[in-house]
Amino acid sequence: MEPKLLLDDLSKLLRESKRKLKKRIKEKSNYSNCGGKVFMTHDESALFLDCLNYKEQVISFHLIKGGVGKTTLAQSIASRVSVYGAKVLCIDLDQQSNLSQAFGMKQVNYPNMYDILANDIAINEAIISVCPGIDLIKSSLSNAKLDHMIFMQHNNVKTLFLDMLKDLKTSYDFIMFDCPPTLGVSVQSAIIASDTIVLPINPDLFSVEGLKICIEEIKLLAESYQKDIDIKIIINKFDNRTILSHEISQFLFEEDYFKELVLPTVVHNNQDFSNKLSRGVSIYDSPSQKKSAKEIDDIVINLMELRLCQTKK
Ligand SMILES: Nc1ncnc2c1ncn2[C@@H]1O[C@H](COP(=O)(O)OP(=O)(O)OP(=O)(O)O)[C@@H](O)[C@H]1O
Ligand SMILES: [Mg+2]
Repeated sequence: MEPKLLLDDLSKLLRESKRKLKKRIKEKSNYSNCGGKVFMTHDESALFLDCLNYKEQVISFHLIKGGVGKTTLAQSIASRVSVYGAKVLCIDLDQQSNLSQAFGMKQVNYPNMYDILANDIAINEAIISVCPGIDLIKSSLSNAKLDHMIFMQHNNVKTLFLDMLKDLKTSYDFIMFDCPPTLGVSVQSAIIASDTIVLPINPDLFSVEGLKICIEEIKLLAESYQKDIDIKIIINKFDNRTILSHEISQFLFEEDYFKELVLPTVVHNNQDFSNKLSRGVSIYDSPSQKKSAKEIDDIVINLMELRLCQTKK
């Protein structure tokens, strides 16, 4: 996997001509060229983009409804922040291991979160490098025993991950949990360890029902543990042609309970996601990027509060 940051995108973000930008990049770093498209990878961006600032945080992708896009958004968002030079650790908590697969790491024999806790393995020994900028703690079927094991063996069930991540936070800009579609103790522990919970929903009635249950639970946990936890709802798989897509989005954007929490960018239904993720690469791997890439980029800029902290030379 090699996500790419196109010079076209960077030129728009920095409001600088491509010609000037190329010259400035060459002074500090490097860029590559493929099929006429100029781009930078994580290492090149990390050297050059010291003018970008982002809000470092732990993020959980969560919703009790299955198939809404938790894993898809986690992999795509992690890939995008990595090409802005950020270092990301993704933790796959789902026994289905879809995130591990989306990073092309399903078959790799490494400890998962269950193994770490059950066999007292140091968390660092479970970290796999997916590509420059992205590390992973993978999942496998034995993670199905994670909730039961945490419940039986640990007193501090809910703060387990919060405590585990303390030392890792200095090594990463973002730590992201991909949660299974449940509200078990491992998911609750991920929520308490998080600064932000991303709740992807699809424009259907069942997703909206699940959404309210999740928001109530997050608010309850945040209150019990006196933590500020931001909630961000992302409308995913929006389809312009269906009335329901328009109705549900309008409802979420207008209803008092939800409107402050919904991100303005919707992610459209797009085969680009499944085409890329099923091959273990990201939507940013190809030098010709599609509408999906632009939508996730808008979300990243909003979610990570990505901004310039110094004016360009
Ligand atoms: N915007 C989108 N357009 C088209 N397909 C999408 C989109 N987002 C996700 N998908 C597809 O929907 C399916 C479910 O997505 P994903 O696995 O990310 O959901 P999930 O919420 O993680 O599911 P689970 O709860 O089972 O973990 C996948 O096949 C994925 O490729
Ligand atoms: Mg998933």
